[in-house]
Amino acid sequence: MSDKALLQYQDKTFEFPVIQGSENELAIDIKTLRAQSGMITIDPGFKNTGSCESAITFLDGEKGILRYRGYSIEDLAEKATFLEVVYLLIFRELPKADALAAFQKDIVAESHVDEEMKKILDGFPKSAHPMGVLASLTSALISFNPNSVNASSDKEMYAAIVRIVAKFPVLVAWTMRKKKGLPLDYGDDSLGYVENIHKMMFKKPSQEYTKNKVIIDALNKLLILHADHEQNCSTSTVRIVGSSHAGLFASLSAGISALWGPLHGGANQAVLEMLEAIEADGGDTKKYMAKAKDKNDPFRLMGFGHRVYKNFDPRAKIIKKAADEVLNDLGIDDPILAIAKGLEKEALEDPYFVERKLYPNVDFYSGIIYRALGIPTEMFTVMFALGRLPGWIAQWKEMRENNEPIGRPRQVYIGENFRDFVPVENR
Ligand code: CMC
Repeated sequence: MSDKALLQYQDKTFEFPVIQGSENELAIDIKTLRAQSGMITIDPGFKNTGSCESAITFLDGEKGILRYRGYSIEDLAEKATFLEVVYLLIFRELPKADALAAFQKDIVAESHVDEEMKKILDGFPKSAHPMGVLASLTSALISFNPNSVNASSDKEMYAAIVRIVAKFPVLVAWTMRKKKGLPLDYGDDSLGYVENIHKMMFKKPSQEYTKNKVIIDALNKLLILHADHEQNCSTSTVRIVGSSHAGLFASLSAGISALWGPLHGGANQAVLEMLEAIEADGGDTKKYMAKAKDKNDPFRLMGFGHRVYKNFDPRAKIIKKAADEVLNDLGIDDPILAIAKGLEKEALEDPYFVERKLYPNVDFYSGIIYRALGIPTEMFTVMFALGRLPGWIAQWKEMRENNEPIGRPRQVYIGENFRDFVPVENR
């Protein structure tokens, strides 16, 4: 593609190449803008700014398409295991049976977390939010795995990736067990990756762990649906932190903090708290719809709206169906599901939501499934982080392999012009 975009300012015209992605998206390459014109662009929230070229995830927000490495999210959620998707995202292709077995074996070999990490966990009060604990523990892992990763060595990259994919579920499980006052436990090498996560989170000291296919299938699906979402807030954080050549674990810890916010991953906790509040308030969804539309009220309908999906969020479609199936299979009749469906119906017919193209997002129904699986509300965003881990790793690896420059945006300064310093006694 050799198209050019022209920018005219005063009596000068500047020329920029237009680049095209493999799904025909067009972008104006402004790398030379400042050198040519002395100007920069301004785009708060990066609504129109591509930060990189990436071959990991394709997303078309208008058509509601989401694909990892070319495979549709619908196909992967239905047919793949989470570990296959982890491999696909990080290593570009779905693994053959022997590669998958070797990957799993390597993960099992690295699944031990240094016992001293328990002392760090011990220092947190039980009331600490699990996301803060998880970010801290992920960062602390660096001290026990001191090798900084040489990004040009495939062997070192692989070792670091396996280490974090193996140890992260232990940190997740410990974070929850600490909250619940359960002894910190390890997994079982004979279990699959997701079964092992479930076992580590829920096994009671006095009982054998029993597998439940409905629960494991639901967890697989949820983790796959959260596994990557191109340049969202936490992923951009991971890439930008890594662009300073900070290590993988440090970059991931920053990503966890970014995910925590209620406008991003923290929305799944906020949705459930909102639904519970509506239920406790008598289930009057109309009242909360009115609050969401009132510009003088900071209340937002959590789990609604998305920066890129302006038609529907394909993940929400799959999760809504899964929520029905899981609750049905587990024989749970949760009044919160009815409130959620009622809110969705009202919003989809309301001009405020229709005009602004606000649809349920991935977080609207996920909490209902987590709740049915017995996962505490404060752990919901941790589950999101567990799912997003492979996406963060894949994006960090791509950024390092592409030798991307350090992320360093510019600004338009709007402060005071030069002024002389005035000594304190004269101010
Ligand atoms: N409830 C009520 N009004 C809303 C909502 C909502 N959930 N979301 C957006 N709006 C309104 C907003 O007030 C604005 O109205 P107006 O044009 O009159 O000023 C308009 O819709 C556009 O909103 P925006 O905030 O400019 O859009 P954005 O792209 O910057 O924000 C969002 C996207 C996801 C942060 C936002 O929709 C939101 O806060 N949703 C609730 C939180 C949520 O569910 N987050 C999870 C996102 S999906 C999981 C993930 O990947 O992180």
